[in-house]
Amino acid sequence: MTTAVASAFGAVLDPVNRHDPYPLLASLRRTPVAVTQDGTYVVSTFDAIAALLHDPRVSSSDIPDLAEKSSSGATADLVGLPPSFLRQDPPAHDRLRRLATRPFGPPHTPHRVADLEPTLTSLAGSLVAAFPPSTVDLVDHFAYPLPVQVICSLLGVPMADEPRFRAWIDAALISVEPNRAALADLAQYLGELVDGRLADVATPDGASALGGDLLTALATDDGPDGRMSRSELVSTAMLLLIAGHETTVNLIANSALILLRQPAWLERLLAEPDIVVPFVEEVLRYDPPVQMLPWRTALDDIPVAGTTIPAGASITLVLAAGNRDPQQFPDPDRFDPDRRPAPHLGFGDGIHYCFGAPLARLEAQVALTALAPVLARARLLEDPPEYRLSAVLRGPRHLRVALD
Ligand code: HEM
Repeated sequence: MTTAVASAFGAVLDPVNRHDPYPLLASLRRTPVAVTQDGTYVVSTFDAIAALLHDPRVSSSDIPDLAEKSSSGATADLVGLPPSFLRQDPPAHDRLRRLATRPFGPPHTPHRVADLEPTLTSLAGSLVAAFPPSTVDLVDHFAYPLPVQVICSLLGVPMADEPRFRAWIDAALISVEPNRAALADLAQYLGELVDGRLADVATPDGASALGGDLLTALATDDGPDGRMSRSELVSTAMLLLIAGHETTVNLIANSALILLRQPAWLERLLAEPDIVVPFVEEVLRYDPPVQMLPWRTALDDIPVAGTTIPAGASITLVLAAGNRDPQQFPDPDRFDPDRRPAPHLGFGDGIHYCFGAPLARLEAQVALTALAPVLARARLLEDPPEYRLSAVLRGPRHLRVALD
C-alpha cells in the first residue's frame, strides 16, 4: 500500500490521536482495502467490511492458545483453555453461541434482558444520587460502575472482587495484542468460580440482585447440545465478563460527551425522552465503542473492493471507518439521531454480531435517561478528555464535569 495509507493507520493506532481518529479514518477510506508493512489488510469502507463479516472464508480463530504463553504462575489452570466463541469459526462457534444463548435470550429465555429494566433504572438512579456535589468523573462514578455491576450480577461474579479483575482486564486491553499474563490471572479467577458452580457451592454475593446467575445456568443447563466443558465455561465467562462491560462503559461515556458538546441534543432528550432510542443507535454509528476488529484471517484468496486479500493474510476491519462512510451515511460526520435509520457496524455483523446488543442498548438508554438532568447542569472540565489507551475499545478514561 501507499506510504500515506500506512502512516494514516499507524496514526490511528497512536494514542496521541485517540481523541479524534475520524479525519485519519477518512483518509484510510480512500484505499478501501490496504496492506500495511507487516502484511495486514486494513479494510475501511462499509460495503467491504460488511461483505467480509459475512464471508465464510474469513476466520476469527487465529488467536494462539493463551495457556502456553502465560508467565503469571497461573498456567496450570489455563492449560488447554479453548478460545471463546468470539475467536472460533463454525461449527464450534455456533455450538457455543447456542449454548450461551439458551439462558440469556430468545427463544428459551426471552425476558431476561427486558426484566432488568427496573433494576437498571434504580441502579442508575442511585449512582446519580451518590455523585459528589461539585465535580464528578462521569466514567468512574457512572459509566463504569453501572455496566460492571450489571454484568457481575448477571453472571454471578462477586462485586467485591471487582478491583482484582479490573486490574487484569485493564492490563489485558491496553494493546491490540492480548496481554496473556493478565488474561491468565483472570482465567484462574473465573475457573475458581466455575468450579464453585460445578461443585454446587452457595451462590456468591451479588448473584441475586438481577434475578439470576448466568454462570450457574450455563454450568447446569441440559439442552440438545449438551453442556459446556469446564474449560469452555471459563472461556465463555471471560468473554461475557470483558465484552459485557468494557464496551458499554465507552458507549455511555461517548454518549455523555456528545450530549455535553452538543447541548441541543440534551434539550431534545429532556423534552422528548423517547429520542434516547435513536440517540443511542446514532452514538453506536458515530463514535462506536469497538473501533476495529483486528483478528481476522483469510482462509482463501478473497477478492473485495478491487483488491484480492491472499490466503493466510491478517485482516483488520475498521468498523469506525465504515460507520463514517459517506456511501452508506449521508453527511457522515454530522451527529444526527433523526437521520434515516440504516444498518451500522457498531455491533459488528454476520455470525459474530454482538451477543449482548439488546443488553447494551437497554443499559445505555436507561443510563442516559438517568444522567440527562445532571448533564443539564454540568460543564465539561477537559475537552478533549483523557482517553483509554486501547485503539480497539476506544472511549474516555475520565470525563470530569463541574456541577452547577
Ligand atoms: C456498547 C456495548 C457493546 C458493543 C459496542 C459491542 C460490540 C461488539 C462487536 C463489534 C462484536 C463483534 C466482534 C467480532 O465480530 O469479532 C461483539 C461481539 C460480542 N459481544 Fe458485544 N458489544 C457490546 C456489549 C456487549 C455486552 C453487554 C455483552 C454481553 C452481555 C457482549 C457480548 C458479546 C459477545 C459474547 C460477542 C461475541 C459474539 C460471537 O462471536 O458470536 N457485548 N460485540
